[in-house]
Amino acid sequence: MNKDFLWGSSISGGQCEGGFASRSETVVDIIPQGKETRFQYLNQPGHYLDKPEGFYPSQKGVEFYENYKEDIALYAQMGLKALRFSVLWSRIFLDDTLEPNEDGLKFYDDVINELKKYNIEPIITTIHFDMPLWIVEKYNGFVNRKVVDLYQHYVHTIVNRYHDRVKYWISYCEINVMNHALYMVGGTVLKGNEDREQVLLQCAYHKLLGNALLVKTCHDIDPTLKVGCEVAGSPAYPLTSSPLDYQEMMKEERRDTRFTDVMVKGIFPYYLRKQCEEYGIEIKKEDEDIFLNHTLDFIAVSYYKTQVASHKGEKENPLLEKTPFGWSIDPLGMRLMLNKMYERYEVPILIVENGLGTFDKLEDGKVHDDYRIDYLSKHIQQMEMAIEDGVEVIGYLTWAAMDVVSTSEGMMSKRYGFIYVDRNDDGTGSLKRYPKDSFYWYQNLIKEKSGEK
Ligand code: BG6
Repeated sequence: MNKDFLWGSSISGGQCEGGFASRSETVVDIIPQGKETRFQYLNQPGHYLDKPEGFYPSQKGVEFYENYKEDIALYAQMGLKALRFSVLWSRIFLDDTLEPNEDGLKFYDDVINELKKYNIEPIITTIHFDMPLWIVEKYNGFVNRKVVDLYQHYVHTIVNRYHDRVKYWISYCEINVMNHALYMVGGTVLKGNEDREQVLLQCAYHKLLGNALLVKTCHDIDPTLKVGCEVAGSPAYPLTSSPLDYQEMMKEERRDTRFTDVMVKGIFPYYLRKQCEEYGIEIKKEDEDIFLNHTLDFIAVSYYKTQVASHKGEKENPLLEKTPFGWSIDPLGMRLMLNKMYERYEVPILIVENGLGTFDKLEDGKVHDDYRIDYLSKHIQQMEMAIEDGVEVIGYLTWAAMDVVSTSEGMMSKRYGFIYVDRNDDGTGSLKRYPKDSFYWYQNLIKEKSGEK
């Protein structure tokens, strides 16, 4: 294993920071907890845009804003070589002004400096499902081209400020999740009889342009900076050998690769061109040059599960085990996904999320999460096999360094972290941190793999 390999973990501002009094709201701050409804509202927030009274778990997160020093000290104790986190745009630009908020900028200075103190490589995501709500309210998110200008101003501000200490930049978290969470990823709310696919494509076009402009901004400021965008890697297997299932699988794949192709190859694949034509989305000549000249240095990918494609609409893979939250467990799928992605793009891949979300039990200050160790070990093994296959993987970051508010359910009890955070689904709890068994396991693994043992 390369000695510079980035062994680490991830968190995101909207799920862990809190610090609500010193920033403006993000898109997830106004979505309440609720297993049945939350994901639906992350697609179309409906009456939540009127901000009714309720329990909004993201507003407090797990108080990383107040506790970042103690949390980073724990990450350092674990031996993390890299930490990916998101800057909250809503902390830097509190509203529609061109003047950044110095306190917000200073907070991330402090976080970065604290990480550097322990030789932890900071990796910044510019938007991790945490776009400012004022952008939704005023511009309806990325469907509006004006938001590309706002985004460019935001990223110019933060890249300028942090580039001397931050080498790796990720534009967005899981751009392809916009396919089913238009509001959360695009910041856009469908109006009246609008055609969803048309609005989605327009949003994606602008997000892709924003991504290319981040690459340009970073490389203009310092050509050695490395820029990626995160895609959700949850490939689909055809459920049967029916050609119709294979066709379904191709459709699924194209919904993902259509965005990655633009970002990595700088061109619109023929089927995306066709879709744009069909929905009246103009690919402007001046934009084409931007797409072509400012492509990604690496692909950031998340991997949790695989899916099945079936022309009958079946969703279950009868051959795979599942987590208590119904996500399939498929370590080999990760090796296959990495190979497929590398075969298509041949750019370095950074795994930025992989982990097991499940219930944990805190007993006498300990969490015996051997199930998590088992899940992660098997995935790491498959990643190493992909590296042996020849895939250039530059790092492995788990989700998540500590327990945070879950995105799809808004729950605390769907836990992914190496560090247990005492916060309950109803918001009660001391917020005290407890290293789990997996904390010590990962500490040991990093030492071993980095040749420090
Ligand atoms: C990823 C997101 O898709 O999945 C994270 O980037 C999220 O924000 C993670 O937390 C796990 O999903 P969930 O819904 O179980 O929290």
